[in-house]
Amino acid sequence: MYQKIKGTEDLYGQEMKFWYWVEEKARKLSLLYGFTEIRTPIFEETKLFVRSVGQDTDIVQKEMYTFEDKGGRSITLRPEGTAPVVRAFVENGLITVGFPQKYFYIGPMFRYERPQSGRQRQFHQFGAEIFGSPSPLADAELIIFVNDFLKEIGLVDFEIHINTLGDTEDRAKYKEALKEYYSQHLDNLCNDCKIRYERNVLRLLDCKVDVEYAKNAPKLIDYIGENARKHYEELKELLDTAGIRYIEDPRLVRGLDYYNRTVFEVHHHKLGAMSAIAGGGRYDGLIKEIGGKDVPALGFAAGMERLVLAIKAENVEVEDMRINEVYIAHFGGSEVRNVAFKLAQQLRDEGIAVNLEIMERGLGAQLKNAARTGAKLCVLIGENEIEKNVVMIKNMETGEQFEFEINFVASGIKDMLEDMR
Ligand code: HAM
Repeated sequence: MYQKIKGTEDLYGQEMKFWYWVEEKARKLSLLYGFTEIRTPIFEETKLFVRSVGQDTDIVQKEMYTFEDKGGRSITLRPEGTAPVVRAFVENGLITVGFPQKYFYIGPMFRYERPQSGRQRQFHQFGAEIFGSPSPLADAELIIFVNDFLKEIGLVDFEIHINTLGDTEDRAKYKEALKEYYSQHLDNLCNDCKIRYERNVLRLLDCKVDVEYAKNAPKLIDYIGENARKHYEELKELLDTAGIRYIEDPRLVRGLDYYNRTVFEVHHHKLGAMSAIAGGGRYDGLIKEIGGKDVPALGFAAGMERLVLAIKAENVEVEDMRINEVYIAHFGGSEVRNVAFKLAQQLRDEGIAVNLEIMERGLGAQLKNAARTGAKLCVLIGENEIEKNVVMIKNMETGEQFEFEINFVASGIKDMLEDMR
């Protein structure tokens, strides 16, 4: 027996209705907000992620699926969507097309993390990126978009956390202050934090063990320069005007290196440890870093597995998939079969979801299968019916049967389905 790779999932059956629900609403709302879709490859040159996500991040240090291809190139399965979209934007000369440009994407991402509920090695993100606007209006629009999307898929039990990381030079000063502060406590820190101290001092604030030290650490907000501070104030004003509820979280630093100024994360109350359903922020320096011009940018991504968990946790009523409205059972010779085939096609042409018996079983087994597949109506066609130029239609919910003249079957079925909806 073969088994799926640890940290991956097979998605099928009724589970898919949750995925359709989230994906359809993601597409619809993206277009409504003026984002168009971008699809980039699932793998990229390794150095793209090292350069953008950051050499010292957990993602690059521990979590990337990196391999050498047969041509000796170092390739990495994308751990996130922003770097590939920025690469595509620069490589395809989109930089010259006019601003702003707004793209969304939906697809699988790969991180070698310890799997648990809401955390997988292959997971899926719905994300969006905005290129070109330095204005807090863009930050506000993005956060409003995320809030609207989460409401649209039926969630209410979430919180938006926001913070500002300031500009690069602000952050450099802050990092120095943090180093200074933590250097006095170095011996008492957990092992992870000792490594963070060397590699990525901002991440010390995220530690779940050394919480007390983080509480008394210097505050980032005290190091934010005038411009970044104004940007943050304006963003908050815009969010207030739009009636968006948010929580200011001065310790929110995010796990990717490319951010500056605004960062945000959305947490769901019913998801336990893996509560972050979405995260994002501004990354004004990244496009230049990757070889483009100085173009400000920002974006977010939501984890689809976590969205599905949240929908289930909130008991959101999700539309059923139209897998099988009508089952066509037939028993008899080739003439019967032909009528069944034709009817199946005719009903599908009318937009009715049809399962046609293709196993050539006895009538009892066919009816059982109709019930198993959730058919609302079952059409029964046999030699007797053909002789009389009729078919029987069984309402699978009530068990009632009706006889229809063949010419009126399609419209009869339509009416019956309408009544049952
Ligand atoms: P991120 O916070 O690393 O940001 O990921 C965004 C979301 O993806 C998380 O909030 C979480 O819901 C989901 N996620 C991350 N890792 C996993 C995992 N192992 N299993 C399941 N879900 C996961 C980014 O990826 C940035 N590229 C977001 C962004 C776009 N920033 C600017 N533009």
